[in-house]
Amino acid sequence: MIGDLRRFSSIGPEEIAAGMSAMHAPLSGYLAGEPRGGREVCELEQAWAEKFNVTHAIACNSATSGLLAAAFATGLGDGDRFAVSAMTMSATAAAPMFTGARPFFGDVDDETFGIETDLPHSAPVFATNLFGHAAHLTALRNWCDSNKTVLIEDNSQSPFASVGEQFTGTIGHIGVFSLNIHKPIQCGEGGMIVTDDDELADRLRAFINHGEHVGRSIGLNLRMPEVCAAIARVQLRHGEEIVQGRIDQATAIITAVSGTPGIRMPVTRDRCRHVYYTIPFLIDGDRAAFCASLREDGVPIVEGYVDPLYRMPAFAKWARPCPVAEGLHDRRLFYAENCAWDFTRDQVEQIGEAFRKAAKCLKI
Ligand SMILES: Cc1ncc(COP(=O)(O)O)c(C=O)c1O
Repeated sequence: MIGDLRRFSSIGPEEIAAGMSAMHAPLSGYLAGEPRGGREVCELEQAWAEKFNVTHAIACNSATSGLLAAAFATGLGDGDRFAVSAMTMSATAAAPMFTGARPFFGDVDDETFGIETDLPHSAPVFATNLFGHAAHLTALRNWCDSNKTVLIEDNSQSPFASVGEQFTGTIGHIGVFSLNIHKPIQCGEGGMIVTDDDELADRLRAFINHGEHVGRSIGLNLRMPEVCAAIARVQLRHGEEIVQGRIDQATAIITAVSGTPGIRMPVTRDRCRHVYYTIPFLIDGDRAAFCASLREDGVPIVEGYVDPLYRMPAFAKWARPCPVAEGLHDRRLFYAENCAWDFTRDQVEQIGEAFRKAAKCLKI
């Protein structure tokens, strides 16, 4: 048994002090139609734009809001098509559907878990960088550019991941980050949208801010509060360090379990940086029995990810077979929640032993 588990949290005294201090100033800066927000929001946006080397960074109250704003900003509307991975969190597909657009569910590959690049419709692509690794972003961006459409990256799970010199989230026309409590960098609830396109930035800002300061379009209030922005600023400052801590933990676990027969370790593609939101393993053999054995030894493990989205009644109308996503969810994939737990060195070694024991019991 690996014993008591400690939850991971990157929130420390600096974040608490920043949040408290923001409470002594106006709690929102969006006064009288001001589209940029208060001091904390403005400073977060500036620091985020500098860190990720983009022209515009726009704070909002969740990645879901960011995806919704992106869908409206790119002009998606009633009856339009958009492409989205069948294997992602539901918000990646649900948010654009609020424009009245219809999803085309793309299958994934079993290394990056990103959406396929051979897409049949010339339509905006919502590509998720799942588990901490880039989807096939360069190919998707080229495909979108040559088809005169847009690539929106759902980078909720992959802050500070990269492809070559470029951070994920900044390769598409728009990138969306989540700052919810489950993410390595967080402020409870929050989102960031990035783009280099001035016109898209104007539309994104208008959408999250009632649309009223431009008057051309409708919008909602999807703004980030000042206290969240104050916390997010500190998290951003420590972002590289926080994420490196998660990469180090994942590397230690992968080293401890590597060589387990029948288990494929996570793949990091050439020139990519994996930030290991989760540690995805694939199994040849009886997944349920293998994971049951791990659980008996106290290893927290999740089987599959989410059902391919078209199996949910809300998306069933647009179902099409995605055999790789189905096989991963039903039989092959299991993962460790690297951003949920802080393992001690002993626990990491015990995870290694638990993997070997499970493989031996199952004779794989
Ligand atoms: C891939 C992906 N997209 C979108 C979201 C939604 O993020 P938020 O809770 O910030 O709206 C999540 C959250 O878990 C996610 O993992």
